[in-house]
Amino acid sequence: MEEKLRLMLKAAQQAIANAQDLEEINQVRIHYLGKKGELTRILRGMGALAADERRNYGQLANKIREEIEEALEKQTNVFKNKEKQERLAAEKIDVTLPGNVFYLGHLHPITTILNQIEDIFLGLGFSIAEGPEVELDYYNFEALNIPAGHPARELQDTFFITPNILLRTHTSPVQVRTMEVTTPNIPVKIIAPGKVYRRDDDATHTPMFHQVEGLAIDRQITFADLKGTLQLFAAETFGADIRTRFRPSFFPFTEPSAEVDISCVMCAGQGCRVCSQTGWLEILGCGMVHPRVLEMSGYSSEEVTGFAFGLGVERIAMLKYGIDDMRLLFENDLRFLAQF
Ligand code: FA5
Ligand code: MG
Repeated sequence: MEEKLRLMLKAAQQAIANAQDLEEINQVRIHYLGKKGELTRILRGMGALAADERRNYGQLANKIREEIEEALEKQTNVFKNKEKQERLAAEKIDVTLPGNVFYLGHLHPITTILNQIEDIFLGLGFSIAEGPEVELDYYNFEALNIPAGHPARELQDTFFITPNILLRTHTSPVQVRTMEVTTPNIPVKIIAPGKVYRRDDDATHTPMFHQVEGLAIDRQITFADLKGTLQLFAAETFGADIRTRFRPSFFPFTEPSAEVDISCVMCAGQGCRVCSQTGWLEILGCGMVHPRVLEMSGYSSEEVTGFAFGLGVERIAMLKYGIDDMRLLFENDLRFLAQF
């Protein structure tokens, strides 16, 4: 009996040592200690032995059971540790791998140009004014010396909402809205950036575009102030080498009026397709505020003078970035927009 138990212990120890994983350890446990296991069977057979033999062998059998259990547990821990190590190794993070690349958006080129224009004029002491895009006829035309039936109304193909309400065709109504509030105080120095709308659609005209209006009112403001301001703006925007040209023009709300051209940024004034071989490109309209406009908004044209200008932001973006079709700016094609 004793021999039988010792042989069994040896065999069990051997089986535990040979086990390859937790599953095999479990098989060994069932084989020796399970309900129908070898040791269990031996213990059952002891009923047939004499009382003192039963006690001796019983003790031995229990000791052997403990030894097998201990060996099983030890080996189980070995496998569990190994599994843990493997899992940790698999979960290891390689901090030297390159990170995930996120596509970051950026400002629309028109927003970038608008910000640059605002910075230039804020640096010159102008502040920013705003007005509505849905505007009254009075501010868009009437108070700018463009009465009903005036031929200048034909120049600006207007989106009307009612006969009296329209989408503003330029930012000039903000001049009037500003003067109504500031009169009779001086000086007034504002710019008014914003969206305007016209029934236009070709490579250099879009139905929605942006203007930046400028207005300065004070005693003894002259055309020289206007010229100096706009020349400085052009040099800041296009570089110190840019040349400007003031060309006589007409606007009902300024007198005298001019349009400002810059030397062509594509050909440096040599003449090319972009400037229609003239060497010059138009960027804005301007002039001295018409006395009637000052008076209508509450200022005395005897006491103060002013200059005003209105520049096309898309034109400036086209020139700065070399864009040959304005409509590209508003088609939201990422292949185009990602270039800026
Ligand atoms: C005006 O709108 C006047 N209000 C400018 C002004 C202000 C004159 C203050 C005097 C004093 P004009 O219609 O020329 O002027 O437009 C000004 C600029 O807007 C043009 O030089 C051009 O750059 C731009 N522009 C005009 N129409 C469009 C269009 N459909 N799409 C894009 N830009 C345009
Ligand atoms: Mg024009």
